[in-house]
Amino acid sequence: SNTHIYAQGGDHQSLSSESELVSDITPNTPDNLTIERNPALKPKPDPSTLVFGKQFSDHMLTVSWSEAGGWQAPQIKPFQNLSLHPASSALHYSIELFEGMKAFRGVDNRIRLFRPMLNMERMYRSTERSCLPLFDKGELIKCINKLVEIDREWVPYSTDASLYIRPTFIGTEPSLGVSRAGHALLFVIIGPVGPYFATGGFSPVSLLADPRYVRAWRGGIGEYKMGGNYGPTIAVQSEAAKQKCQQVLWLYGENEEITEVGTMNLFIYWTTEKGEKELVTPPLDGIILPGVTRQSLLDLAREWGDFKVTERRVLMKELIDALDDGRILEVFGSGTACVVCPVGSLLYRGQTYQIPTMKNGPDLAKRFHKELTDIQYGRIQRDWAPVII
Ligand SMILES: Cc1ncc(COP(=O)(O)O)c(C=O)c1O
Repeated sequence: SNTHIYAQGGDHQSLSSESELVSDITPNTPDNLTIERNPALKPKPDPSTLVFGKQFSDHMLTVSWSEAGGWQAPQIKPFQNLSLHPASSALHYSIELFEGMKAFRGVDNRIRLFRPMLNMERMYRSTERSCLPLFDKGELIKCINKLVEIDREWVPYSTDASLYIRPTFIGTEPSLGVSRAGHALLFVIIGPVGPYFATGGFSPVSLLADPRYVRAWRGGIGEYKMGGNYGPTIAVQSEAAKQKCQQVLWLYGENEEITEVGTMNLFIYWTTEKGEKELVTPPLDGIILPGVTRQSLLDLAREWGDFKVTERRVLMKELIDALDDGRILEVFGSGTACVVCPVGSLLYRGQTYQIPTMKNGPDLAKRFHKELTDIQYGRIQRDWAPVII
Protein backbone atom coordinates (compact mmCIF):
# COMPACT_ATOMS: atom_id res chain seq x y z
CA SER A 1 0.00 0.00 0.00
CA ASN A 2 1.19 3.51 -0.64
CA THR A 3 -1.08 5.25 1.82
CA HIS A 4 1.71 6.04 4.28
CA ILE A 5 3.51 8.01 1.58
CA TYR A 6 0.65 10.48 1.36
CA ALA A 7 -0.53 10.45 4.97
CA GLN A 8 -0.48 14.00 6.28
CA GLY A 9 1.49 14.68 9.39
CA GLY A 10 2.63 11.06 9.25
CA ASP A 11 5.21 9.78 11.68
CA HIS A 12 8.33 8.67 9.86
CA GLN A 13 9.28 6.45 12.77
CA SER A 14 6.56 4.05 11.74
CA LEU A 15 8.10 3.56 8.32
CA SER A 16 10.37 0.73 7.40
CA SER A 17 14.09 1.39 7.67
CA GLU A 18 14.98 -1.27 5.14
CA SER A 19 15.93 -0.56 1.59
CA GLU A 20 12.93 -0.89 -0.64
CA LEU A 21 12.46 -0.71 -4.35
CA VAL A 22 9.80 1.91 -4.92
CA SER A 23 8.88 1.37 -8.53
CA ASP A 24 5.58 -0.14 -7.41
CA ILE A 25 4.75 2.74 -5.08
CA THR A 26 4.20 5.59 -7.48
CA PRO A 27 4.40 5.63 -11.26
CA ASN A 28 6.25 8.94 -11.08
CA THR A 29 9.24 7.55 -9.26
CA PRO A 30 12.18 6.41 -11.38
CA ASP A 31 12.13 2.62 -11.62
CA ASN A 32 15.56 2.04 -10.20
CA LEU A 33 15.44 4.49 -7.28
CA THR A 34 16.24 2.79 -3.99
CA ILE A 35 15.30 4.14 -0.60
CA GLU A 36 17.02 3.50 2.70
CA ARG A 37 15.05 5.08 5.52
CA ASN A 38 16.82 6.92 8.29
CA PRO A 39 16.02 5.12 11.55
CA ALA A 40 17.11 8.13 13.67
CA LEU A 41 14.99 11.13 12.73
CA LYS A 42 15.99 14.56 14.02
CA PRO A 43 13.58 16.92 15.73
CA LYS A 44 12.34 19.68 13.43
CA PRO A 45 13.58 23.15 14.34
CA ASP A 46 11.21 25.97 15.30
CA PRO A 47 10.61 27.86 12.01
CA SER A 48 11.21 31.19 13.74
CA THR A 49 14.81 30.25 14.60
CA LEU A 50 15.96 29.05 11.18
CA VAL A 51 19.27 30.32 9.84
CA PHE A 52 19.73 29.87 6.09
CA GLY A 53 21.55 26.70 5.13
CA LYS A 54 22.39 25.39 8.59
CA GLN A 55 19.66 22.81 9.08
CA PHE A 56 19.24 19.72 6.94
CA SER A 57 16.55 17.09 6.74
CA ASP A 58 16.88 13.36 7.48
CA HIS A 59 17.57 12.11 3.96
CA MET A 60 19.57 12.95 0.85
CA LEU A 61 19.66 11.82 -2.76
CA THR A 62 22.84 10.59 -4.42
CA VAL A 63 23.43 9.40 -7.97
CA SER A 64 26.92 8.43 -9.01
CA TRP A 65 28.36 8.18 -12.47
CA SER A 66 31.53 6.84 -14.02
CA GLU A 67 32.84 6.75 -17.52
CA ALA A 68 33.08 2.98 -17.37
CA GLY A 69 29.76 2.22 -15.66
CA GLY A 70 27.52 5.14 -16.68
CA TRP A 71 24.81 6.36 -14.32
CA GLN A 72 24.20 4.19 -11.27
CA ALA A 73 20.78 3.80 -9.69
CA PRO A 74 19.68 6.88 -7.71
CA GLN A 75 19.61 6.37 -3.96
CA ILE A 76 17.70 8.13 -1.22
CA LYS A 77 19.45 7.44 2.06
CA PRO A 78 20.08 8.89 5.50
CA PHE A 79 21.74 12.33 5.41
CA GLN A 80 25.44 11.61 5.81
CA ASN A 81 28.96 12.76 5.05
CA LEU A 82 30.47 12.02 1.67
CA SER A 83 33.63 10.01 1.34
CA LEU A 84 35.87 11.47 -1.36
CA HIS A 85 39.25 10.57 -2.77
CA PRO A 86 41.58 13.47 -1.86
CA ALA A 87 42.46 13.97 -5.53
CA SER A 88 38.78 14.46 -6.46
CA SER A 89 38.57 17.03 -9.22
CA ALA A 90 35.90 19.10 -7.46
CA LEU A 91 38.41 19.81 -4.68
CA HIS A 92 41.25 20.86 -6.99
CA TYR A 93 39.70 22.39 -10.08
CA SER A 94 36.24 23.44 -8.92
CA ILE A 95 34.43 20.95 -11.10
CA GLU A 96 31.31 21.77 -9.14
CA LEU A 97 27.90 23.22 -9.85
CA PHE A 98 24.69 23.60 -7.92
CA GLU A 99 21.12 24.82 -7.95
CA GLY A 100 18.87 26.57 -5.45
CA MET A 101 15.13 26.03 -5.41
CA LYS A 102 12.34 25.66 -2.87
CA ALA A 103 9.31 23.60 -1.89
CA PHE A 104 6.40 25.42 -0.24
CA ARG A 105 3.60 24.13 1.99
CA GLY A 106 0.51 25.89 0.73
CA VAL A 107 -2.55 27.18 2.53
CA ASP A 108 -4.24 23.94 1.40
CA ASN A 109 -1.41 21.88 3.01
CA ARG A 110 -0.28 20.68 -0.41
CA ILE A 111 3.42 20.95 -1.25
CA ARG A 112 4.49 22.79 -4.40
CA LEU A 113 7.72 23.50 -6.22
CA PHE A 114 8.22 26.71 -8.20
CA ARG A 115 9.05 26.43 -11.94
CA PRO A 116 11.37 23.49 -11.18
CA MET A 117 12.15 22.79 -14.83
CA LEU A 118 13.84 26.18 -15.10
CA ASN A 119 16.25 25.06 -12.39
CA MET A 120 16.76 21.72 -14.11
CA GLU A 121 17.50 23.44 -17.40
CA ARG A 122 19.97 25.82 -15.76
CA MET A 123 21.63 22.88 -14.03
CA TYR A 124 21.85 21.06 -17.33
CA ARG A 125 23.59 24.04 -18.94
CA SER A 126 26.05 24.25 -16.01
CA THR A 127 26.66 20.52 -16.43
CA GLU A 128 27.49 20.87 -20.11
CA ARG A 129 29.85 23.76 -19.38
CA SER A 130 31.59 21.69 -16.66
CA CYS A 131 32.07 18.66 -18.95
CA LEU A 132 30.14 16.57 -16.44
CA PRO A 133 27.84 13.82 -17.73
CA LEU A 134 24.43 14.94 -18.94
CA PHE A 135 21.42 13.77 -16.99
CA ASP A 136 17.70 13.41 -17.61
CA LYS A 137 16.03 16.54 -16.22
CA GLY A 138 12.65 14.86 -15.86
CA GLU A 139 14.12 11.90 -13.98
CA LEU A 140 16.06 14.17 -11.64
CA ILE A 141 12.97 16.19 -10.78
CA LYS A 142 11.13 12.95 -10.04
CA CYS A 143 13.91 11.92 -7.65
CA ILE A 144 13.76 15.34 -5.99
CA ASN A 145 9.98 15.06 -5.62
CA LYS A 146 10.46 11.70 -3.93
CA LEU A 147 13.09 13.08 -1.56
CA VAL A 148 10.77 15.93 -0.59
CA GLU A 149 7.94 13.45 -0.16
CA ILE A 150 9.97 11.30 2.21
CA ASP A 151 11.09 14.35 4.21
CA ARG A 152 7.77 16.17 3.77
CA GLU A 153 7.51 16.92 7.48
CA TRP A 154 10.56 19.14 6.95
CA VAL A 155 8.56 21.46 4.71
CA PRO A 156 7.63 24.12 7.29
CA TYR A 157 3.97 24.49 8.26
CA SER A 158 4.20 28.19 7.54
CA THR A 159 3.58 30.58 4.68
CA ASP A 160 6.67 32.54 5.75
CA ALA A 161 9.09 29.62 5.49
CA SER A 162 9.95 26.94 2.96
CA LEU A 163 12.17 23.97 2.24
CA TYR A 164 15.36 24.89 0.40
CA ILE A 165 16.54 22.32 -2.15
CA ARG A 166 20.20 22.20 -3.11
CA PRO A 167 20.99 19.94 -6.07
CA THR A 168 24.77 19.67 -6.43
CA PHE A 169 27.00 18.02 -8.99
CA ILE A 170 30.72 17.40 -8.46
CA GLY A 171 33.60 15.80 -10.29
CA THR A 172 35.01 12.94 -8.23
CA GLU A 173 37.70 11.90 -10.68
CA PRO A 174 40.46 10.54 -8.41
CA SER A 175 43.42 11.92 -10.34
CA LEU A 176 45.18 15.25 -10.71
CA GLY A 177 45.22 15.84 -14.46
CA VAL A 178 43.24 18.88 -15.53
CA SER A 179 40.83 16.97 -17.68
CA ARG A 180 37.23 15.86 -18.03
CA ALA A 181 36.09 13.99 -14.89
CA GLY A 182 35.66 10.26 -15.42
CA HIS A 183 33.80 9.97 -12.11
CA ALA A 184 31.07 12.23 -10.82
CA LEU A 185 28.50 12.49 -8.06
CA LEU A 186 25.17 14.24 -8.26
CA PHE A 187 23.51 14.76 -4.90
CA VAL A 188 20.62 16.71 -3.42
CA ILE A 189 20.33 17.97 0.14
CA ILE A 190 17.34 19.83 1.56
CA GLY A 191 16.60 21.87 4.65
CA PRO A 192 14.04 24.28 6.07
CA VAL A 193 14.61 28.02 5.70
CA GLY A 194 12.84 30.93 7.32
CA PRO A 195 11.69 34.28 5.99
CA TYR A 196 14.40 36.41 4.42
CA PHE A 197 13.16 39.47 6.26
CA ALA A 198 13.07 38.56 9.95
CA THR A 199 10.74 41.44 10.79
CA GLY A 200 8.02 40.29 8.41
CA GLY A 201 7.93 43.50 6.38
CA PHE A 202 10.47 44.47 3.75
CA SER A 203 13.72 45.95 4.95
CA PRO A 204 15.87 47.67 2.35
CA VAL A 205 19.51 46.72 1.78
CA SER A 206 22.50 48.98 1.24
CA LEU A 207 24.86 48.29 -1.66
CA LEU A 208 28.55 48.85 -2.33
CA ALA A 209 29.38 49.43 -6.02
CA ASP A 210 33.16 49.36 -6.39
CA PRO A 211 34.41 49.22 -9.98
CA ARG A 212 37.71 47.67 -8.83
CA TYR A 213 35.97 44.30 -8.45
CA VAL A 214 34.40 42.12 -11.14
CA ARG A 215 32.23 39.03 -10.57
CA ALA A 216 32.20 37.66 -14.13
CA TRP A 217 33.16 38.67 -17.64
CA ARG A 218 32.07 38.09 -21.22
CA GLY A 219 33.36 34.75 -22.40
CA GLY A 220 33.52 33.53 -18.80
CA ILE A 221 31.08 31.49 -16.74
CA GLY A 222 28.95 34.11 -14.96
CA GLU A 223 25.75 32.68 -16.44
CA TYR A 224 26.36 29.23 -14.96
CA LYS A 225 25.73 28.31 -11.35
CA MET A 226 29.19 26.97 -10.61
CA GLY A 227 30.88 27.13 -7.22
CA GLY A 228 33.83 28.91 -8.81
CA ASN A 229 31.68 32.02 -9.28
CA TYR A 230 30.86 32.28 -5.60
CA GLY A 231 33.94 31.62 -3.44
CA PRO A 232 35.83 34.66 -4.76
CA THR A 233 32.93 37.03 -3.97
CA ILE A 234 33.24 36.53 -0.22
CA ALA A 235 36.26 38.83 0.15
CA VAL A 236 34.38 41.59 -1.69
CA GLN A 237 31.30 40.97 0.43
CA SER A 238 33.49 41.44 3.56
CA GLU A 239 34.86 44.66 2.07
CA ALA A 240 31.25 45.83 1.64
CA ALA A 241 30.49 44.91 5.27
CA LYS A 242 33.55 46.90 6.42
CA GLN A 243 32.07 49.89 4.63
CA LYS A 244 28.72 49.28 6.35
CA CYS A 245 27.05 47.96 3.20
CA GLN A 246 25.03 44.74 3.14
CA GLN A 247 25.55 43.59 -0.43
CA VAL A 248 27.75 44.11 -3.47
CA LEU A 249 26.42 45.65 -6.67
CA TRP A 250 28.63 44.12 -9.36
CA LEU A 251 29.74 46.44 -12.15
CA TYR A 252 31.37 45.39 -15.38
CA GLY A 253 33.63 46.97 -17.94
CA GLU A 254 34.91 50.46 -18.61
CA ASN A 255 31.39 51.84 -18.92
CA GLU A 256 30.48 50.34 -15.56
CA GLU A 257 27.53 48.27 -16.64
CA ILE A 258 25.24 47.31 -13.78
CA THR A 259 25.02 43.51 -13.62
CA GLU A 260 23.61 41.95 -10.45
CA VAL A 261 23.55 42.22 -6.67
CA GLY A 262 25.10 39.60 -4.39
CA THR A 263 23.08 36.52 -5.30
CA MET A 264 20.20 38.42 -6.84
CA ASN A 265 19.32 39.87 -10.22
CA LEU A 266 18.67 43.60 -10.28
CA PHE A 267 15.61 45.57 -11.39
CA ILE A 268 15.20 49.33 -11.74
CA TYR A 269 11.73 50.86 -11.98
CA TRP A 270 11.99 54.45 -13.14
CA THR A 271 10.57 57.22 -15.25
CA THR A 272 12.55 57.48 -18.45
CA GLU A 273 13.82 60.79 -19.80
CA LYS A 274 10.79 60.70 -22.11
CA GLY A 275 8.51 60.46 -19.09
CA GLU A 276 7.47 56.81 -19.48
CA LYS A 277 7.34 54.35 -16.58
CA GLU A 278 9.74 51.52 -17.30
CA LEU A 279 11.02 48.40 -15.57
CA VAL A 280 14.53 47.66 -16.71
CA THR A 281 16.90 44.79 -15.95
CA PRO A 282 20.25 43.77 -17.46
CA PRO A 283 20.04 41.28 -20.35
CA LEU A 284 21.16 37.65 -20.32
CA ASP A 285 24.35 38.26 -22.25
CA GLY A 286 26.66 35.88 -20.47
CA ILE A 287 27.76 37.69 -17.33
CA ILE A 288 24.72 37.36 -15.08
CA LEU A 289 22.90 34.35 -13.73
CA PRO A 290 19.57 33.76 -15.52
CA GLY A 291 17.43 33.87 -12.38
CA VAL A 292 14.17 31.94 -12.18
CA THR A 293 12.74 34.83 -10.17
CA ARG A 294 14.04 37.34 -12.74
CA GLN A 295 12.27 35.43 -15.51
CA SER A 296 9.08 35.27 -13.45
CA LEU A 297 9.04 39.01 -12.74
CA LEU A 298 9.55 39.75 -16.44
CA ASP A 299 6.77 37.31 -17.37
CA LEU A 300 4.35 38.84 -14.85
CA ALA A 301 5.18 42.43 -15.79
CA ARG A 302 4.63 41.65 -19.48
CA GLU A 303 1.32 39.95 -18.70
CA TRP A 304 0.16 42.95 -16.67
CA GLY A 305 1.13 45.36 -19.43
CA ASP A 306 0.97 48.32 -17.04
CA PHE A 307 4.39 49.75 -17.89
CA LYS A 308 7.24 49.27 -20.32
CA VAL A 309 9.46 46.23 -19.65
CA THR A 310 13.00 46.26 -21.00
CA GLU A 311 16.01 43.96 -20.88
CA ARG A 312 19.03 46.01 -21.79
CA ARG A 313 22.45 47.04 -20.58
CA VAL A 314 22.19 49.79 -17.96
CA LEU A 315 25.22 51.89 -17.04
CA MET A 316 26.03 53.15 -13.57
CA LYS A 317 25.97 56.70 -14.96
CA GLU A 318 22.35 56.24 -16.04
CA LEU A 319 21.35 55.14 -12.57
CA ILE A 320 23.19 58.03 -10.90
CA ASP A 321 21.71 60.56 -13.38
CA ALA A 322 18.22 59.20 -12.79
CA LEU A 323 18.75 59.43 -9.02
CA ASP A 324 19.95 63.04 -9.38
CA ASP A 325 16.91 63.84 -11.56
CA GLY A 326 14.51 62.22 -9.08
CA ARG A 327 13.35 59.69 -11.73
CA ILE A 328 14.03 56.52 -9.75
CA LEU A 329 10.91 54.91 -8.31
CA GLU A 330 12.21 51.56 -7.01
CA VAL A 331 15.36 49.49 -7.16
CA PHE A 332 15.18 45.87 -6.01
CA GLY A 333 16.95 42.55 -6.25
CA SER A 334 15.22 39.29 -7.19
CA GLY A 335 16.07 35.75 -6.14
CA THR A 336 14.82 32.50 -4.68
CA ALA A 337 15.90 33.52 -1.18
CA CYS A 338 13.84 36.72 -0.88
CA VAL A 339 11.63 36.85 -4.01
CA VAL A 340 12.26 40.61 -4.11
CA CYS A 341 14.54 42.68 -1.91
CA PRO A 342 14.31 46.50 -1.92
CA VAL A 343 17.49 48.55 -2.24
CA GLY A 344 17.70 51.57 0.06
CA SER A 345 21.10 53.08 -0.63
CA LEU A 346 24.21 52.85 -2.74
CA LEU A 347 27.83 53.62 -1.88
CA TYR A 348 29.73 54.48 -5.04
CA ARG A 349 33.09 56.22 -5.36
CA GLY A 350 32.96 57.42 -1.77
CA GLN A 351 29.47 58.90 -2.00
CA THR A 352 26.29 57.47 -0.49
CA TYR A 353 23.16 57.81 -2.62
CA GLN A 354 19.77 57.34 -1.02
CA ILE A 355 17.35 55.36 -3.18
CA PRO A 356 13.66 56.15 -2.62
CA THR A 357 12.44 52.54 -3.01
CA MET A 358 10.72 52.44 0.39
CA LYS A 359 9.30 55.94 0.01
CA ASN A 360 7.53 54.73 -3.13
CA GLY A 361 5.79 51.88 -1.34
CA PRO A 362 7.59 50.00 -2.70
CA ASP A 363 4.42 49.43 -4.73
CA LEU A 364 5.89 47.39 -7.55
CA ALA A 365 8.20 45.26 -5.38
CA LYS A 366 5.23 44.48 -3.09
CA ARG A 367 3.00 43.62 -6.03
CA PHE A 368 5.60 41.16 -7.35
CA HIS A 369 6.16 39.70 -3.90
CA LYS A 370 2.45 39.16 -3.34
CA GLU A 371 1.83 37.66 -6.75
CA LEU A 372 4.72 35.19 -6.53
CA THR A 373 4.11 34.14 -2.93
CA ASP A 374 0.38 33.73 -3.70
CA ILE A 375 1.37 31.27 -6.43
CA GLN A 376 3.99 29.50 -4.29
CA TYR A 377 1.67 29.02 -1.31
CA GLY A 378 -1.32 27.99 -3.42
CA ARG A 379 -3.46 31.08 -2.86
CA ILE A 380 -3.47 31.48 -6.65
CA GLN A 381 -3.42 28.37 -8.84
CA ARG A 382 -0.92 28.51 -11.66
CA ASP A 383 1.09 25.87 -13.52
CA TRP A 384 4.27 27.62 -12.38
CA ALA A 385 3.81 25.89 -9.03
CA PRO A 386 3.13 22.18 -9.59
CA VAL A 387 1.69 20.32 -6.63
CA ILE A 388 4.02 17.45 -5.79
CA ILE A 389 2.35 16.11 -2.64
C1 LIG B 1 24.57 35.28 -8.81
C2 LIG B 1 23.11 35.08 -8.70
N1 LIG B 1 22.28 35.90 -9.37
C3 LIG B 1 20.94 35.76 -9.32
C4 LIG B 1 20.35 34.77 -8.55
C5 LIG B 1 18.85 34.64 -8.53
O1 LIG B 1 18.44 33.49 -9.21
P1 LIG B 1 17.07 32.74 -8.84
O2 LIG B 1 15.99 33.74 -9.06
O3 LIG B 1 17.01 31.59 -9.77
O4 LIG B 1 17.19 32.35 -7.41
C6 LIG B 1 21.17 33.90 -7.82
C7 LIG B 1 20.57 32.86 -6.97
O5 LIG B 1 20.41 31.76 -7.38
C8 LIG B 1 22.57 34.04 -7.91
O6 LIG B 1 23.38 33.22 -7.25
